[in-house]
Amino acid sequence: MREEIKEILLSEEQIKSRVKELGEEISRDFPEGDVLFIGVLKGSVMFISDLMRSMKVDVNMDFMAVSSYGLSSETSGVVRILKDLDFDIEYRDVIIVEDIIDTGTTLRYLYDYLKARNPRNLKICCLLDKPERRKVNINIDYKGFEIPDYFVVGYGLDYAEKFRYLPYIGILKEDVYKKDKSN
Ligand code: PRP
Ligand code: MN
Ligand code: MG
Repeated sequence: MREEIKEILLSEEQIKSRVKELGEEISRDFPEGDVLFIGVLKGSVMFISDLMRSMKVDVNMDFMAVSSYGLSSETSGVVRILKDLDFDIEYRDVIIVEDIIDTGTTLRYLYDYLKARNPRNLKICCLLDKPERRKVNINIDYKGFEIPDYFVVGYGLDYAEKFRYLPYIGILKEDVYKKDKSN
C-alpha cells in the first residue's frame, strides 16, 4: 500500500464481485442487448472496462470527456465538455457509466445533455455514491457502493491526476490534500 493511503476502503476482490453483479443485473434488464455504455473520462475507465467484461449481452462503448474539478479537489460547479460522443444515440439503450457521484453536478449536466438527443433509454450506473455531498438530485439506476464522505482514490479515481492506477479504492491521508491547499 502506498504511504499516502490511510486505509483500503474497497479491496480489489470486493470491487470485482460487485462489478460482476452489476453487469449481470444490467444484462437481465436489457436481454436483447445492443446496449451502449458511455464512459465519462477519465475516472470511469477501469470501471467501464471491467463492467463490459461482466456483461452477458452485446454491449458497445463510447466516451465523453467532461471536467468540473481539474486539478483542484473542489468542484468548480461548471461542467466543460472536452470530448463529445462518436455515435448517434437516438433510439438507443444508453447507460452512462461513472466512477463516483459526489455533488451530482457532472452527471446532472451530462444526463440532461444526452437526454436531449432522444435515446430510447437513458440510465445511470455508478460505482460509488457519496450521498452526503449531493447538491443536485440524481436518480441512480445501478449503484456499486454507497460510501461516507471520504477522499477516495484508486481504480480510476484521482487526486490531482495521481493514484488512478491503484487496483483498490483507498482513503487518502488528510495531510496529502491539506498540504497542497496551503501552497
Ligand atoms: C470526478 C469524478 C466524477 C465527478 C463527480 O471527475 O470522476 O466524474 O468528478 O463529481 P460531482 O458529482 O461533484 O460532479 P473529474 O471532474 O475529477 O474528472 P476525472 O474523471 O478525469 O478525474
Ligand atoms: Mn470523472
Ligand atoms: Mg478527478
